[in-house]
Amino acid sequence: ASGAAEKDLVVIGGGPGGYVAAIKAAQLGMSVACVEGRGSLGGTCLNVGCIPSKALLHSSHLYAEAKNHFGSIGIKTGELSYDFSVIQKSKDTAVSGLTKGIEGLFKKNKVEYVKGWGKLLSGNEVEVAGLDGSSSKIKAKNILLATGSEVTPLPGVPIDETRIVSSTGALALKEVPAEMVVIGAGYIGLEMGSVYQRLGSKVTVVEFLDTIVPSMDAEVRRTFQRTLEKQGLKFKMGTKVTKGEVVGNRVVLTTEPSKGGAADKIECDVCLVAIGRRPYTEGLGLEALGIKKDNRGRLEVDSHFRTAVPSVYAIGDLVAGPMLAHKAEEDGVAAVEIMAGKHGHVNYATVPSICYTHPETASVGLTEDEAKAKGYETKTGKFSFMANSRARAVGDTDGMVKIVADKKTDKLLGVHIMGPNAGEMIHEAVLALEYGASAEDIARTCHGHPTLSEAVKEAAMATAFGKPIHM
Ligand code: FAD
Ligand code: NAI
Repeated sequence: ASGAAEKDLVVIGGGPGGYVAAIKAAQLGMSVACVEGRGSLGGTCLNVGCIPSKALLHSSHLYAEAKNHFGSIGIKTGELSYDFSVIQKSKDTAVSGLTKGIEGLFKKNKVEYVKGWGKLLSGNEVEVAGLDGSSSKIKAKNILLATGSEVTPLPGVPIDETRIVSSTGALALKEVPAEMVVIGAGYIGLEMGSVYQRLGSKVTVVEFLDTIVPSMDAEVRRTFQRTLEKQGLKFKMGTKVTKGEVVGNRVVLTTEPSKGGAADKIECDVCLVAIGRRPYTEGLGLEALGIKKDNRGRLEVDSHFRTAVPSVYAIGDLVAGPMLAHKAEEDGVAAVEIMAGKHGHVNYATVPSICYTHPETASVGLTEDEAKAKGYETKTGKFSFMANSRARAVGDTDGMVKIVADKKTDKLLGVHIMGPNAGEMIHEAVLALEYGASAEDIARTCHGHPTLSEAVKEAAMATAFGKPIHM
């Protein structure tokens, strides 16, 4: 595949971790090849993750708005319907446009795109089983592993991607199911559950724990669950699925209380298994090189992303930390900066998490419980979108901003938003945390009016001064 004798860097995996690292490395002057086996660039994120899910969330949100909200502001629609095949096609168009776009970026930055599956022969050589049937070898000074993750299977519930689906099947359904069961109330479950609930499915989310998205601030999470229930999502908490089978056109699931008890059955047309993801390392040849995994299958790396073989680095979903596209990108940039002798660094304390439901939730830093567990004496300030003029003007008032700060110093510890556009709004908090700001710093920063972001300023006033203006 490769004409050049030796590359400075071979990246295995063309997801947001790998492709961003490849481009950055080329920009730093390295000769780079990126090996990707799925036939298109962009990894899980672009092909079967972030992007297609956000396209479906957008279309289904507009439909739900037209159905549930337009009437109240005087917009008449007549009989409303949708063409699901067009919704799916427009999602596919967004995906293919973006993946082709990365090919363009590779050309522009002179990154060689090698289409095939890579395997380590040594710390400086990669063998590629080409998609065209060819086999080739590439030598490299450094190798970056960015092979990402795959769906965690649920024993007893075999995925066929038609009736019992993973997120990949759920993104590609041909019809909207009348009844859907989602196993796992995490990011995928709530986002994909929302998509199909809006399009008319009766959706039941079965969750092992007693809380949805356990990593979220407890107060925000409780409000979030109530809001999703109001929209029509049903939750069966503290419940585990022990078996799932396809019977004719239906899926029959056996459930049990997580803490033990009598078994029950629940039926649906499509069941989505969304209980997490696990690192993907198949066929990489790690064992022969002595590259180790931790007890969750993640590659062990040092603070410079180095595996036990010094010329082999690993980033993204493959290593510890949140399994998020933007985290993989940050890892990738830092790793190649380190290879180039620079001071690459990722501040994991300021990686934001966003759930793209409606309203969205977004958070950065510590939850109130986490801050207390770390020994901080905390203070919090809250502001409801009910009292925000822009949210009122557009009739989108569910949610709040909650700020957690150090009681002694007023230093920001965490910001948690549930509300329209929370995923865009969170970034002033990310920047504030990155710069070590206090709540008062945000409270004294001028915010445009009328914007949803004013709720962040008001919550900061509540935190710093004990009182906001408008509540
Ligand atoms: P990946 O994106 O998984 O890329 C790895 C690539 O390596 C793949 O393309 C794979 O084909 C390739 N590969 C593997 N082995 C080899 C090999 N031996 N040779 C060659 N190529 C190989 N994150 C967010 O931040 N925001 C979101 O909104 C979001 N939504 C998501 C929605 C869904 C439904 C899913 C499933 C995930 C979502 N994620 C989201 C998570 C996000 O997709 C991942 O965190 C991100 O893609 C990880 O990037 P990565 O580069 O580490 O790995
Ligand atoms: P997740 O880790 O977010 O949630 C999984 C949920 O399933 C948890 O609440 C867990 O308690 C529950 N669970 C685990 N085992 C179970 C069982 N046997 N029965 C019932 N429930 C069980 O994982 P998810 O939703 O699959 O997503 C995978 C990853 O992809 C996420 O962790 C996230 O990193 C990423 N992602 C990010 C998105 C975003 O940033 N908006 C969107 C979608 C995915």
